[in-house]
Amino acid sequence: MDARDLVRSVRAVGTTAGSAWGWRAVRSAWRRQRVDASALPRRGAERARVPGPATGAEPEPGGGVVRFARSSLRVRVTSVGAVFCGWDGAEPEPSYALARGCPETDVRALLEPDKDGGWRVVAERMTVSVARDGTVEIRTPGGLLLRRDLPPRWWDPVDGRAGGGAGGRVNGRPRGGPAAPPLKGPEGPGRPDRWPAGPAFRPTGPRWARRSEVPADARFFGLGGRAHGPRLRTGEYRLWNTDPGGAFGPGDDPLYITMPVQFVVSDAGTHLVFDDNSWDGRVRLWEGEEGGGSGHDRPGGCEVRMDGGPVRRWIVVGGPARVLQAWTALTGAPALPPRWALGHHHARWGFGSAAEVRRIVAGYREHGLPLSAVHLDIDHYRGHRVFTVDTERFPDLPGLATELREAGVRLVSIVDPGVKAAPGEPVYESGKAVDAFVRDARGREVRGVVWSGDSVFPDFTDERVRRWWGGLYAERVARGFAGVWHDMNEPVSFAAFGDTTLPRSARHSLEGRGGDHREAHNVYGLTMARAGYEALCALVPDERPFLFSRSGWAGMQRYGGTWSGDVATGWPGLRASLSLVLGLGLCGVPYSGPDIGGFTGSPSPELFLRWFQLGAWMPLFRTHAAITAGRREPWEFGPLVLEHARAALLERERLLPYLVTLAHLARRTGAPYVRPVWWGAPEDRALRDCEDAFLLGDALLVAPVLGPGVTRRAVRLPRGRWYDTATGQAYEGPGRVVVDAPLSRVPVLARAGAVLPVAGERGAVELEAWAPAPGREGSGVVVRD
Ligand code: NOJ
Repeated sequence: MDARDLVRSVRAVGTTAGSAWGWRAVRSAWRRQRVDASALPRRGAERARVPGPATGAEPEPGGGVVRFARSSLRVRVTSVGAVFCGWDGAEPEPSYALARGCPETDVRALLEPDKDGGWRVVAERMTVSVARDGTVEIRTPGGLLLRRDLPPRWWDPVDGRAGGGAGGRVNGRPRGGPAAPPLKGPEGPGRPDRWPAGPAFRPTGPRWARRSEVPADARFFGLGGRAHGPRLRTGEYRLWNTDPGGAFGPGDDPLYITMPVQFVVSDAGTHLVFDDNSWDGRVRLWEGEEGGGSGHDRPGGCEVRMDGGPVRRWIVVGGPARVLQAWTALTGAPALPPRWALGHHHARWGFGSAAEVRRIVAGYREHGLPLSAVHLDIDHYRGHRVFTVDTERFPDLPGLATELREAGVRLVSIVDPGVKAAPGEPVYESGKAVDAFVRDARGREVRGVVWSGDSVFPDFTDERVRRWWGGLYAERVARGFAGVWHDMNEPVSFAAFGDTTLPRSARHSLEGRGGDHREAHNVYGLTMARAGYEALCALVPDERPFLFSRSGWAGMQRYGGTWSGDVATGWPGLRASLSLVLGLGLCGVPYSGPDIGGFTGSPSPELFLRWFQLGAWMPLFRTHAAITAGRREPWEFGPLVLEHARAALLERERLLPYLVTLAHLARRTGAPYVRPVWWGAPEDRALRDCEDAFLLGDALLVAPVLGPGVTRRAVRLPRGRWYDTATGQAYEGPGRVVVDAPLSRVPVLARAGAVLPVAGERGAVELEAWAPAPGREGSGVVVRD
């Protein structure tokens, strides 16, 4: 356990200590450790391996295979502009990230001999060259170096095992060893239909590492949702979806959504690299240094280390827009949120009753604050049990839902994956009947602890289980919920020490291939989102599903969005929430937003207002807080905050047609609504380092206030003319200007020549046009819902 894990565990105990869960968290941690100790043998002797010298190459349509003394590399160019490089026989499939399997091969590309005895593949947007030692270079069509991937290094177990420590085991017994005794668990004899017959353990390859170099001026972004970005500084980033426990700030890593996706921007060009591998891993990044005129640049670089799984990498090159377009073609178009989901949402853990929900909704109405949705957290469940309702506190949920819907407010339900493991509990019994829950290496149900106490966890990597789980959403739909909010799906199991998740040896179907939690962990939230999304599509075919999920992985945008998770209340938390939204957008997940006001404690009126003003420009615009936190209704912070929050809300309403357009564009092109300011000018180094402002689509630049006492702030402008939308004052970019940021608003600048749709009188859509710079023309895009 490293220091960070220790802090996290102490926090986790802090959250649960003194409660009914405290002792359970201790028991659960011991249980997890014991199960893993018996099922995951210690790492034995290993031998390091590199590919060795090249021995030959075979061209094939779209690229070819280069053979080395101790490995091979397949390069394949696809029709979407992404190039696949797989070592040791790795193929693009199976993959949880790819939307429709491997895209078509671009047969025009071919492996051909290159200088120094190497080979190269020329694709439309990049040239891939493979040196005789296995170094792979990615260059722009003009020949500029974007990245140099050094040959991978594997650590093969010397006894022939594979799979990062337990690979030699099949169903928990050594491969080729004596047959294991019949399995018995707390549920009685093993189930002959599934245990011990399956899922079989699949050897998954040794642990490996790979270094890369990037130009000295390159900046890294991405890796999923990170709190201390969006620019990822020199440091180590873990790839293991994690609930930080309690609340997080900029120093906490990893968080709920990690992805092996690097978005790299340099003078030479922009590229995205995706290691399609869901195992636990670490990415060490280092930013380079330029030697000024001396010519002695120190390149930047990274090292990816994975505990197992294939060495296969997708590479996309182009401007930011083209990169995300290709990434979306590969991993799927973002789900289109229903129009109401672009309005304001109000959530709270602990509304506690239907009466309180009505009070809040009435408060919004009385204060002239538009409201689109109210979210019910776990306190509306009976004993925190998923797919139940506490009918004493919420006696007529369908009635409440109808009443609210008539007032233009939708109800959204939290859905946690943990199922209360108690005989007679309908969800538990129905899951048990279809063998839905994750089991350990000996075939026993894995028991963890979540809000409802002892819990079991559906294995969403099994299509059968996804269908069963999806069927349960009929209950939510019948109760009148219009959307779902997936939570705790890293997945979390409270533990007094160590990892707050399932045992790493827990078995998963992995679509019938068989494997364990080391491989399934990072795709747990993604596969749960798939189950929920497909269920909502089937149950309510006439409406667009609304689903957002705390955890996920590459490709999660196909099923919906996400949110910041439990961001700590405070100015650093406000900054972290912007970092998360920007970083996730660059990983293909455009719909997200923070808990406005932060999840914990009580924000000062000023902090609440600044957070609200930021949130009003985010795709998901939602106030939310913990059960122990202070109020988050805008009228609770005094008349001044109320007035300014109302102004932000009304401006959001006015811009809804623009947000609808951005949602459609995100679906069609992958371009996030919220973009870094360098989006259109990645060659502008000053913009690459600007982390305190963002573009909302092409037309607007938003410069939120991220610190206390600020009434004026500097804004770094991309090239061209920009108008302060409040004063009409024109500024010329590129450059830095100082603009007013009074408490009443955050600075928003419109690009000269921009045309954007806004809400006019009685629901009409009007166009707002900003004068083009002299000699230029204006334009814009409008997509109607
Ligand atoms: C953790 C989630 O991140 C938070 O938003 C929610 O309120 C609590 N779980 C309780 O369900």
